[in-house]
Amino acid sequence: MPDIILKSHDDIVAMRRACRLAAQTLEEAAKMVKPGENTLAIDDFIYDYTIKHHAIPADLNYHGYPKSSCISINEVVCHGIPNKKTVLKDGDIVNIDITSILDGWHGDVSATFYVGTPSKEAINLVETTRECLNLGIAEVRPDARLGDIGAAIQEFAERRGFSVVRDFVGHGIGRQFHENLQVAHYGRRGHGLRLREGMTFTIEPMINAGDWRLRFLDDGWTTVTIDGKWSAQFEHTLVVTKDGCEIMTAFSAPLANSITPTGFKF
Ligand code: MF3
Ligand code: CO
Ligand code: CO
Repeated sequence: MPDIILKSHDDIVAMRRACRLAAQTLEEAAKMVKPGENTLAIDDFIYDYTIKHHAIPADLNYHGYPKSSCISINEVVCHGIPNKKTVLKDGDIVNIDITSILDGWHGDVSATFYVGTPSKEAINLVETTRECLNLGIAEVRPDARLGDIGAAIQEFAERRGFSVVRDFVGHGIGRQFHENLQVAHYGRRGHGLRLREGMTFTIEPMINAGDWRLRFLDDGWTTVTIDGKWSAQFEHTLVVTKDGCEIMTAFSAPLANSITPTGFKF
């Protein structure tokens, strides 16, 4: 296993640009989330926007993946393949996951959006998942342990009766899409790798309304919950700083179709 690559100041400056572009692309794609839109049209937009900004969509041809983004609706946990026949409908929840490569550096970000008017159950799942990511991020600082991140996420999700997906984890990221560091979204405080300044990785919890287990569809990519209940996900790319972390894929404005119409409090 190659070592964990710590990033220098210059590395961070370059990687920040890739992360900003990924976030900006997601901000723009978010505006397309509405009933009647097909997921291929959103993916086409993501491809064009990425190329226009002199970047490359990291997903495209990644281990044979056929599209530029992953778009995962309702019971699809992750890696939903954009398709003209997959049409968003009122009440759906949809995760859009975008990774951009700019000047050789990667930025990976995703969010779950509401299509039209969400149900109370959908809001509860999506807002819990958003909070799981925020709670995970709040643990990140030098000398914290990977288990602290996982525990914070798992405790919050399970307290609300939801489950944490085990089969996919956050990952180191930099010049490579998936670098050697795995961030489980479950775990025990005080356990696991000790964080160091200059580490760059994603946190990307997938939270299920029912059972945490999943299965693959015949396309070999799409994963769905085994019980058909819904799943949500949020993802950011982070760098560990002297006294905490920087969210490298932070948004410059609130995301469209991401704030609930009624507001929500736990
Ligand atoms: N963006 C995903 C992640 O968060 C990976 C997608 S790989 C693909 O790690 F091949 F499915 F696109
Ligand atoms: Co991603
Ligand atoms: Co990722």
